[in-house]
Amino acid sequence: MTSLNRSQAAEAAEDAGSNPSPNPTLGDVVAARFHRRDLLRGALAVGAIGAVVAPRALAAAQGASRETASPFPFTELPAGSDERHHVAAGHDAEVLIRWGDPVLPGAPAFDPRNQTPEAQGQQFGYNNDFIGFFPLPGAADPAAHGLLVVNHEYTNEELMFPGLGRQDGKAAFAGMSQQLVDIEMAAHGGSVIEVKRVDGRWQVVPGSRYARRITATTPMVLAGPAAGSERLRTKADPAGRQVLGMINNCAGGTTPWGTWLTCEENINYYFQGRLGEGSAEARNHKRLGIPGNLYAWGRYHERFDLGAEPNEPNRFGWVVEIDPFDPASTPKKRTAMGRFKHEGAAGILAADGRYVVFQGDDERFDYVYRFVTEAKVDLSDKAANRDILDRGTLFVARFNADGRGAWLPLVHGQGPLTPENGFRDQADVLIETRRAADLLGATKMDRPEDVEANPKTGKVYVMLTNNAKRKADQVDAANPRPENRFGHIVEISPDGRDYAAPGFAWEVLVRCGDPAIAAVGATFSSATTRDGWFGMPDNCSVDGEGRLWVATDGNSAGRTGRTDGIWAMETEGSGRGTGKHFFQVPAGAEMCGPYFTPDDTTFFVAVQHPGEADEEDPKAEPATFERPATRWPDFDPNLPPRPSVVAITKRGGGRVGT
Ligand code: FEO
Ligand code: CA
Ligand code: CA
Ligand code: CA
Repeated sequence: MTSLNRSQAAEAAEDAGSNPSPNPTLGDVVAARFHRRDLLRGALAVGAIGAVVAPRALAAAQGASRETASPFPFTELPAGSDERHHVAAGHDAEVLIRWGDPVLPGAPAFDPRNQTPEAQGQQFGYNNDFIGFFPLPGAADPAAHGLLVVNHEYTNEELMFPGLGRQDGKAAFAGMSQQLVDIEMAAHGGSVIEVKRVDGRWQVVPGSRYARRITATTPMVLAGPAAGSERLRTKADPAGRQVLGMINNCAGGTTPWGTWLTCEENINYYFQGRLGEGSAEARNHKRLGIPGNLYAWGRYHERFDLGAEPNEPNRFGWVVEIDPFDPASTPKKRTAMGRFKHEGAAGILAADGRYVVFQGDDERFDYVYRFVTEAKVDLSDKAANRDILDRGTLFVARFNADGRGAWLPLVHGQGPLTPENGFRDQADVLIETRRAADLLGATKMDRPEDVEANPKTGKVYVMLTNNAKRKADQVDAANPRPENRFGHIVEISPDGRDYAAPGFAWEVLVRCGDPAIAAVGATFSSATTRDGWFGMPDNCSVDGEGRLWVATDGNSAGRTGRTDGIWAMETEGSGRGTGKHFFQVPAGAEMCGPYFTPDDTTFFVAVQHPGEADEEDPKAEPATFERPATRWPDFDPNLPPRPSVVAITKRGGGRVGT
């Protein structure tokens, strides 16, 4: 029998946190706002059933426009699933660092049968997610020597620890000793490593003075308008300004002033217990699905028990800013950027020099946000931008049926964000960002993940991963499919190509999934194994030439006949809206972290939770330390699978994906 895997359990847990607000859906406007490409693809799809899909050729045959050359001249990988990773021909994909490899000088060798919190705290953490690369100042080749920052989003106890199996759900954490919990806490957070390309191959520089592990216990400060709020105060921190650790750091961003933005996402999983009767935080916690009860931490650490510390959850769910060049620096939770299940925080300079950060709130029926700094970025003096993210305006997106959209400011005292509605000050607005956005009438999206700007085109791409819970009477123009199992990508065109402009135009770039079935409500069981499509867009990256690369989360042999991976996505010309398969992860894994070096010669990707069970395969056994779905990347019968960062380069040199 197949057990729920972590992501399924997460979805179940998230149900409690789904958006209950009555924001109107636009109803029967399914066709109101499709780009011509979507109409074409719907029409094409009918003729494509059972055929080998060649989207560009078909698009051209349908007269979409004169065929333009593909910006991705590599040969597409066939879709598939096995125990290994695969990359398009002409490229190399080498493992750079694995869970358990040393990060800090003197870290002990990886020994998963005798793991300790102390060892884990010096080694590379679990479930690498976001990756950022910062060239080292003064490096002879800035694309060959730098710092890599990596998020460690969460832990899989069933794959990390021998003889344990899954512990959440019915098992009620029976096997979770304090030792195992403390290892988990040390495996969360992030890593900073120095990396260098020597004779064409990337390696971690041992003993680097920049090396750092950040965990669920690293001291951090709360900065910005919510810092010091009484709702952030606890017994351990009566001032409401200091927190231990960051958790569930999913995607993120890098800033032009050289810092790492790392985003707390599913923070609800880590809390257990019950609030006291009549607690003022009940509505707030419910909106985020707290407590999520997926980790046993509250059994040994009181702060994760709501009965003991009702405010502790308010100290998580933020964007954390870290200076990777100073290992002694204190990470800062930037409260001005809002509190929700942050997927990522990819930024770009506005026309006037202010910094604009796009953010998705990864939950079914939640929102797309934008933060705009008050001050302009000073590119001549990086230190001058040290606290620039503490002052600015947070906005939430409304997508109208006519293809226009607006950024609605979340500012205390404006519109419904008043004391009458329970917002006494801006701290309340930020702590309960979701409820504030509900009241503003933001558009409920199909799980917003990465949102990234393309400086070459002036556009912004919004990954919407899926939402099988959307009913036919809940569709709207920007979320046009009921039971949206494969997700879609929305393209935003800011007015005047200004990322800080209050208004924008938008259209659907692509409805994901097999084009043969994407035009109607698709189900996993009707998925085919043909090439030419992908499902469940999650993270993305825009390279130096403005090409969009999409990482997926949720494909499997049982679900879509393929594992997750990277798809190159055409956004312009006759191929607009078509994807090309570039990288394939091993069984059970998810694709995260795509990030290019400045010259596009290296593409770093993160293989997360390799070896997890395929919940859609009725024959699959529950995956455990002893019986994982793969032992990637070592294939050593004595070692479990290990989440790892992979460096992809073009054989013989040059830009990746050419
Ligand atoms: Fe951590 Fe939205 O995926
Ligand atoms: Ca990204
Ligand atoms: Ca993900
Ligand atoms: Ca995801």
